[in-house]
Amino acid sequence: MANTINVTTAPEAHNYDIFIGDDLLPRVGRHVKKLTGITCQRVVIVSNKKVFGLYGSTVVDSLEAAGFITSTILIGDGEKYKSLTTAEKILSHMSESGVRRSDIVLALGGGVVGDAAGFAASVYMRGVGVVQVPTTLLSMIDSSTGGKTGVNSTFGKNLIGSFHHPLAVIADVSTLKTLPAEELRAGLCEAIKQGALSGKQLFDATARSVENVAQGDIGGIADLIALQIKFKASIVAGDERESMSGRGSRSRKVLNFGHTFAHALETVTDYKRLRHGEAVGYGILMAAELSKSLDLLDHKSVNLLYDVVRRVGSLPYVADVEPDSVMEMFKHDKKVLSGGLEYVLLRSFGRPVIQSADTISPKLIHSAISRVIRSGIGD
Ligand code: NAD
Ligand code: GLY
Repeated sequence: MANTINVTTAPEAHNYDIFIGDDLLPRVGRHVKKLTGITCQRVVIVSNKKVFGLYGSTVVDSLEAAGFITSTILIGDGEKYKSLTTAEKILSHMSESGVRRSDIVLALGGGVVGDAAGFAASVYMRGVGVVQVPTTLLSMIDSSTGGKTGVNSTFGKNLIGSFHHPLAVIADVSTLKTLPAEELRAGLCEAIKQGALSGKQLFDATARSVENVAQGDIGGIADLIALQIKFKASIVAGDERESMSGRGSRSRKVLNFGHTFAHALETVTDYKRLRHGEAVGYGILMAAELSKSLDLLDHKSVNLLYDVVRRVGSLPYVADVEPDSVMEMFKHDKKVLSGGLEYVLLRSFGRPVIQSADTISPKLIHSAISRVIRSGIGD
């Protein structure tokens, strides 16, 4: 039985469904047929070798049984392949396969595949449809919904991208059975982030799931994914394009809680040590420490956040990272380029606040980073 969540955005009124459940891959063809009608003939599947090896034949069989002509382009596995070179390869493949504007791309994989495939779909002939079929916890609860697509470049992460909402998201939670424990852990960190932003109810539900997943039980995860997506969809619905002037607790910017720190940590460790979600695990603690230093968040909530992040399992070692080098990276944060660095902070669970970096002493930021790095939360 699948959960279905509808996303309707404003002001541009994009409307699409997110299906969450077990064994949805064999039904992908039927879903895509319903979405695209008779005009779509070809489906270009973008995936990587590992994911396609596990689930590719089920998806191809299902699409072909529904009457589609399929072709597949496999991209490299890992953040470094979320690049313009990869996007160009996808676009060349689409052109060589004779893809027309009425045809679609289907992204089968985690956030790297989803972001790169979504980006290619958004620029091919000025935009063709994309169906997101996320296969990691992180991509199910976050990256596949909301329409952000993009690739990394020498001048920064996700600096080249577009908003391109999917025609639908099909999240088959059975695929999580093959996901390595570290990837589940990375997804749980993003779930904790969204839980803290949403309020105590989602935070507590996430904390309970963290316990279960840590014990190898992913039985109830579909329900958590549904709650998580509902929250993300509610934010996206009100601020589809992340308005630059938005400062309120429902601004899409709040979804970047912990991300300024996380992106800087990923960059100083050369994208080699931390998965994106793991970096977010550190980032939300740094943002919480900073919130406490500014007398916004109480000690108890900060400790609770540490406690839940700890229960996810040991994060990769970062105790050798210099807080100064993390702060240096803030200069390249895309938010600086788009009008000034802001921090998403917390007053309490469910009450995020956005504060300009200019109003915060660099010393406080330095010591927030330092406290988390030295907290012993990493291996
Ligand atoms: P990922 O895509 O690199 O996948 C992680 C690993 O899991 C890869 O090695 C992949 O091959 C493997 N994998 C995927 N599904 C599997 C399965 N079912 N079984 C076994 N192995 C599987 O990483 P991710 O965490 O999914 O995504 C991270 C990316 O998402 C980052 O690039 C980040 O910037 C992006 N992101 C985007 C948004 C957005 O709104 N667009 C939001 C959050 C994160
Ligand atoms: N993951 C942040 C966003 O979608 O806005």
